[in-house]
Amino acid sequence: MLFDRIKQNPDIVLGLATGGTMEPIYQQFVARLQQEKIELSRLRSFNLDEYVGLNPQHPKSYAAYMHEHLFQHIGYDSQRHFLPDGLAPDLDEYCRAYSDKIRRQGGIDLQLLGVGTNGHIGFNEPGTPFDSRCHVVRLSERTRRDNSRFFAKGAIVPETAITMGMQDIMEARQLVLVATGSAKAETMARFYQSDVTPDVPITALKQHPDARIILDEAAASQLPDAVRRQYAVSDKITSGPVRRYA
Ligand code: F6R
Repeated sequence: MLFDRIKQNPDIVLGLATGGTMEPIYQQFVARLQQEKIELSRLRSFNLDEYVGLNPQHPKSYAAYMHEHLFQHIGYDSQRHFLPDGLAPDLDEYCRAYSDKIRRQGGIDLQLLGVGTNGHIGFNEPGTPFDSRCHVVRLSERTRRDNSRFFAKGAIVPETAITMGMQDIMEARQLVLVATGSAKAETMARFYQSDVTPDVPITALKQHPDARIILDEAAASQLPDAVRRQYAVSDKITSGPVRRYA
């Protein structure tokens, strides 16, 4: 999906996510790059979020994640690939500038999203207003607990992070949210049942004109049968049709 979109439009602006869900997506992208060359020199990207206080070399920073999973394979250019800086001296000012930079680059064409078990997108935790821009967020206990699996046993998961705001995300021309594994089954059932509300941030996608949701069987397992058929339910998340959520 990523590969074909860049092939069609080498000037695309991508919004990128991190986390376990995205790993196979970047893996498959890099594998395809080895078979087929595409123009990557004009690609621009904005990452969704970063922990406050971790420098980009810290192995658990999202900058290090992106380097490991994508940038070392496609070449990193700081003029085209933008990641929030968790060490910025004035974080509020930095966040304002990050949202502005997205707009100055013409906005995001395709935003990749995962979802937290509590329904967060980016690090917009439940209750974040839909008109929020890039901001500093205090991570919920649930998010810190979920993400502790990426940190060494006993290590402290940062308490705060920078995240693109809900409005930054919703302004992307297309959203593609991927959820995999049984840990996301309840979240997706909640998404389906719930009205659009900041209490369940993922429900904002119901108001987006071009939001696609890709689920594997496990993440779709608590959806009613009729609804499951609307999604690209498959074991391999890049196979099968990607259907628009309606
Ligand atoms: C990460 C991000 C988060 C994750 C979400 C799911 O950049 O924006 O919203 O997508 O926490 O994480 P995983 O995929 O690890 O379950």
